[in-house]
Amino acid sequence: MFGRIDHIGVAVEDIDAAIELYRDGFGMELAHRETVESQGVEAVLLDVGDGHVELLAPLGPDTPVGKYLAKNGTGLHHVAYAVDDIDSALEKIAAAGIQLIDSEPRVGIRDSRVAFLHPRSTGGVLTEIVEPAGGH
Ligand code: CO
Repeated sequence: MFGRIDHIGVAVEDIDAAIELYRDGFGMELAHRETVESQGVEAVLLDVGDGHVELLAPLGPDTPVGKYLAKNGTGLHHVAYAVDDIDSALEKIAAAGIQLIDSEPRVGIRDSRVAFLHPRSTGGVLTEIVEPAGGH
């Protein structure tokens, strides 16, 4: 069902400082930068092989990533698996008894369709599935 790891999500306080590390320090190409209002984040994608690192900085303390940072500090936030058909994948995951945060896909970065699974059902790993927009 999962084609590959699409990205790992990293929660950061300061997105420019994080870009310095990943782009200038690690030599990854900055592929995309976007404010995703619906998720309350400023997000940056950097290329690494076929996948990405997704840096996430909260737009405010009352956003999901803002609350995550207050509780856990900066660091790994989620892992995202690529799927060809997110509707069918969500159906199969729900049928397997795995708890969903998003029962319907929503629009993610770069016009992808994404959904999150509850870490209660995934051994504590916040898990995202992503159907990239065409030509990704
Ligand atoms: Co993500």
